[in-house]
Amino acid sequence: MIPSIRGTRDILPAEVGRWQRVEGVARDLCARYGYAEVRTPVIEREELFAKGTGESTDIVQKEMYAFTDKGGDRITLRPEATPSMVRSFVEHALEQELPCAKLYSLGPMFRYERPQKGRYRQFHQLDIEVFGITDPAVDGEVIEMASALVTELGIEGAELVINSVGCAACRPRFTQALIDALGERVAELCGDCQRRSVTNPLRIFDCKVPADQPIIDQLPHSENFLCDACRGHFAEVRRHLEAYGLAYRVSHRLVRGLDYYTRTTFEILGTSLGAQNALLGGGRYDHLVKQLGGPDRPGIGFAAGLERLVLALPEGAGEMDVADAFVVALGDPSWSAARILARDLRRAGLTTLIDYEGRSSKSQMKRANRSRARHMLILGEDELATNQVTVKTMETGEQQTVARADLVAHLRAVRTD
Ligand code: HAM
Repeated sequence: MIPSIRGTRDILPAEVGRWQRVEGVARDLCARYGYAEVRTPVIEREELFAKGTGESTDIVQKEMYAFTDKGGDRITLRPEATPSMVRSFVEHALEQELPCAKLYSLGPMFRYERPQKGRYRQFHQLDIEVFGITDPAVDGEVIEMASALVTELGIEGAELVINSVGCAACRPRFTQALIDALGERVAELCGDCQRRSVTNPLRIFDCKVPADQPIIDQLPHSENFLCDACRGHFAEVRRHLEAYGLAYRVSHRLVRGLDYYTRTTFEILGTSLGAQNALLGGGRYDHLVKQLGGPDRPGIGFAAGLERLVLALPEGAGEMDVADAFVVALGDPSWSAARILARDLRRAGLTTLIDYEGRSSKSQMKRANRSRARHMLILGEDELATNQVTVKTMETGEQQTVARADLVAHLRAVRTD
C-alpha cells in the first residue's frame, strides 16, 4: 500500500455530506451577496506570491510547494487565493465587465506547514474579494458576510476580532516605534522574532512562543499610530459593525501573516478547534492590485478554511442523505423488471439502490437493511403479474402493495411527510 502524503486527507463518504453542506451554504451566500465565481489554476508563477503574499512572510519563506518545471520556469502550488484572484482580475480586465467586481472562489491551497488538528498541507478555502471600493461600508459588509457564513452554518460561540494596521503613510512610524520599544530586548526574543524584527517587525505580534509574550505585551498598539485618514476609516468600519448589531473585539495583535494588508484586518475565531482556531481571516489591501501590475484599485476580502468550518459544524449537520428505496428482486425472472424499476425511479428523481450478481432474496434484504434506505421495494412473480410493488417501510416494518403506476407519487409523498 502506498500511503497518502502527510498533511493531506481523503474526504471519505461518511464526511462528504458535511463538506457539501459547507460548500452549499458558501455558494448560496456568495450568490445572495452578489459575488461571481472565478476558478483559477492551482499552479501559478512563484513570483506572484513572492510579490503578492510577500517575501518576508512565513508562507513564502518556508511553506511554498515551489519547483522548477520541465521548461525551466519557477512554479508553485498556490498557498492562498488572493494573489491569483488579483492576477485574474487584472489579466482579464474584469472591472470592465463587472460593474462592481465582487469575486469568489472555492478550492485547494497548499502550505508546507507542520500538520495538526485544523492545519493541513493541502486544505481548502472559500475566498472572496471585492475590488475598487474604498468606502468603509464595504469593509462592514464583507465582515458581516463572514459572520453570516459562520451563523448560517450553525457554528456557535465564534468570536469576531478586528484591527487596523494603518497604511503606507502611518505604518512606518508604528514600525519604528516597535523597534524603539524593543530596544535591547530583541536579543531575548525567539529566533523567529529576531528575524522578524529585521524583515517585518509587525509580524512579532504573530509569535506564540510563551517566553516572548511578556515582552510583546509591553509593545505599543497600532491604533495609537494611525494617521487621521486611517483612524477615520476604522471608526466608520466599527460604526457599520455596530449598526449590523455585530459583537466584536479589537485586538492590536491582529496583524495577520501576509504582507499586503492595509487598514482593516479581521478574523473569526472558533471555540472548538484548539490551537488552530481561526475559522477565517481577511482584510483590506489597497496597494496589491497596483503592485501586481494592475490599475490603482483597492481591494478587500477574506478566506475561510473549509476543513475548519467542517470541524466546527454542529453534530448531525450534513448527514448523508438516505436513499428513498432499495429494490429487491425475488427470484431470477424479477431481476430484469427490478432493474427497469430502479431506472424509472432514478429518472423520476428518487435515490434508488439495487443489488447485483443475482444474490438470494435473503441476502438482498440484509443489504437493504444495512443501506438504511427508507423503503424496500419487493418485486416477485405475484407483483409482476399484477403490475404492483410491495413497499416495506423500514422504520415501522409496515408493508403494503402499491400499483406500479402510483409508486413514484407514493414514495414522493412519504418523503415530504
Ligand atoms: P489566511 O489567514 O492565511 O488568509 O488563511 C485564511 C484561512 O484559511 C484561515 O483562517 C484558516 O481557516 C485557513 N487555513 C490557512 N492555513 C491553513 C492550513 N494549513 N490548514 C487548514 N486551514 C488553513 C489568507 O489566505 C488570505 N488570502 C485571506 C484574504 C482574502 N485576505 C484578503 N482576501
